[in-house]
Amino acid sequence: MKKRVLITGGAGFIAHHTIRHILNHTDWEIVSLDRLDYSGNLNRISDMMTEISEKDKKRLRVVHHDLRAEVNDMLTADLGKFNFILHMAASSHVDRSITDPLTFVYDNVVATCNILNFARKNKNLELFVYFSTDEVFGPAPNKVKYKERERYNSTNPYSATKAGGEELAVAFENSYHIPIFITHTMNVFGERQHPEKFIPKCIISARDGLFVEIHSNKNKTKAGSRHYIHASDVADGCLFLIKNRKKIIKKNKIDYGGAKCPKFNLVGPIELDNLELAKLIAKSVGKKLKYKMVDFHSSRPGHDLRYALDGNLMKKLGWKPKVSIEERIDQVVDWTLKNKRWLKI
Ligand SMILES: NC(=O)c1ccc[n+]([C@@H]2O[C@H](COP(=O)([O-])OP(=O)(O)OC[C@H]3O[C@@H](n4cnc5c(N)ncnc54)[C@H](O)[C@@H]3O)[C@@H](O)[C@H]2O)c1
Repeated sequence: MKKRVLITGGAGFIAHHTIRHILNHTDWEIVSLDRLDYSGNLNRISDMMTEISEKDKKRLRVVHHDLRAEVNDMLTADLGKFNFILHMAASSHVDRSITDPLTFVYDNVVATCNILNFARKNKNLELFVYFSTDEVFGPAPNKVKYKERERYNSTNPYSATKAGGEELAVAFENSYHIPIFITHTMNVFGERQHPEKFIPKCIISARDGLFVEIHSNKNKTKAGSRHYIHASDVADGCLFLIKNRKKIIKKNKIDYGGAKCPKFNLVGPIELDNLELAKLIAKSVGKKLKYKMVDFHSSRPGHDLRYALDGNLMKKLGWKPKVSIEERIDQVVDWTLKNKRWLKI
């Protein structure tokens, strides 16, 4: 029997790349579950599916459901059983969490509880993957890179609710013995990303000769930095974890006081500051970058200057992104300029 995977938030940015990656690298059947809010867009899936063969298209089914509500018996019967569940659905825009924290509690904590409850009914479930973020660790001082098991320090409601979802996952593995992995990912970019995000905004500004705002320190001398990673590389890391889960559990013997839910940082190839990144984008667009440094840190609580994760565990296990950041930027800029409708909100 073919393996079956449920991907929540399937119409979202990272999840639709993950659907494509799984269709291209396995023979598994996929169900995408999404409620289609402001950041969920079924056009992502239909657009992406133009690159998939007619035969493989049949392996994807799309289901509409808002995980704020439980997965009731009727939907449970309709969805069927799964070997893997990738929980990617979330309210993910940090700015919105600062103005409306409660929405994030419903979507990132309550919804996580509902999908974990559904996972309990899947007796043959081989792995549940919870997608978390580097932001649970809060800002990273210079030269510090957080490893998987370091202390949490959420600076905004988005990261706090993602950390809350992580702890629910830990509790479900402890209480109900569901096999769960947790991933921490840093800033993800790629084709069909929401135009509110930094990279699509930079592409628009570079193309149209507008000023790009670069998030910086108080003195406006130092730009914020991140490890950017392409969504296909996140999907690749995720599939690596699923396929190698048994070996990884054996190898990943570090005992954190018997803590459940192995955690893995999926990190981009290099750390880039936002100015370097914007310059790379402008170069790829073929224009000179116009920019101004903006002190977001003190004017907007909840935004941090530097995030950094240590990707050594995944490297030791045998995984790292296969394509350089420069090639990925060229790929995304080229695709986006040819597919302009994805730059409109
Ligand atoms: N984008 C990043 O840089 C980044 C970094 C680290 C972690 N993550 C995590 O990865 C996951 C995917 O992020 P993304 O950027 O692709 O997000 P996204 O906002 O593009 O997609 C999220 C999807 O979840 C759906 N959704 C939200 N609440 C739902 C609910 N209650 N029920 C059903 N569907 C719901 C939305 O409709 C949307 O399609 C999230 O869990 C996010 O926290 C993202």
